[in-house]
Amino acid sequence: MWTGTPLFPEAASTMAPRVDALYFFLLGIAGFFSLLIAGLIVYYAVRFHRRTPDQVGAQIHGGMVLEIGWTVIPFLITMVIFVWGASVYYAMARPPDETLNIYVVGKQWMWKFQHLDGQREINELHVPVGRPVKLIMTSEDVIHDVFVPAFRVKADVIPGRYTNLWFQPTKPGRYHLFCAEYCGTRHSGMTGEVIVMEPSEFQTWLSGGVPEGSLASAGAKLFQDLACNTCHRPDAQGRGPVLEGLFGKTVQLQNGETMTVDEAYVRESILNPAAKVAQGFQPIMPTFQGLVSEEQLLELIEYVKSLKALPQVQTR
Ligand code: CUA
Repeated sequence: MWTGTPLFPEAASTMAPRVDALYFFLLGIAGFFSLLIAGLIVYYAVRFHRRTPDQVGAQIHGGMVLEIGWTVIPFLITMVIFVWGASVYYAMARPPDETLNIYVVGKQWMWKFQHLDGQREINELHVPVGRPVKLIMTSEDVIHDVFVPAFRVKADVIPGRYTNLWFQPTKPGRYHLFCAEYCGTRHSGMTGEVIVMEPSEFQTWLSGGVPEGSLASAGAKLFQDLACNTCHRPDAQGRGPVLEGLFGKTVQLQNGETMTVDEAYVRESILNPAAKVAQGFQPIMPTFQGLVSEEQLLELIEYVKSLKALPQVQTR
């Protein structure tokens, strides 16, 4: 209905109609009350204007019905907006369990995308239609912000952290991707395209020309090259924790706190190992700050994720 109107971008994700509906509701309410108030001002100005130079208006005291009316009605309207807005926000903030995960690294001034199978893209992101996609995002330098108007989704990309953004495209096509946080001289040029393809086309695209291998396998190689494997051994004889089956688990720390092993924890443990040492281990691991890039961190994280628990090894 609105696709011909340049004010509204195309609606191409499951979230788009929900955001639009709420937006039109807000517009409708604002429009209704603007017209009502403007109309009443004009009407009263005509109806009650002074007819003779010495006319004095009658004083009115109290008006309980009116007072209650203009308190209760706006309260109910704002509550509808709150509950509705919260439900849309909740749906946006919580990705479904089964998602296609893609890593995003923002830097001045480009977007780098990494698929788990190893494909890398710059300023272009290929995704299949009809499947929930989750972007796991970080920045190499300053704060950026991914914004795909056609999907009605937007999220900050922050150095030193992983933020998520998810969407489910509903129709194939090419959609603009913007940086929506001022990030320096060429911020306005930090744009790209999301290319939504039919699932079969996407599979073809995915299998076409990948020399490097999967992210996890690149991570495995890095794990060897950095000699991580001398301390993190699957047989529990190393000086560091066993990483097999660790991702997603809850671990006990030296200070008694517990911690869920997620992307952020693995990242921190590589860059600042002393920050949260697992119980039963010494803080002897050196930092890898400056030695691994953001992309290499993602490879290592994918490698740790790929390490499934070994049934024959006893964990303590
Ligand atoms: Cu990146 Cu603005």
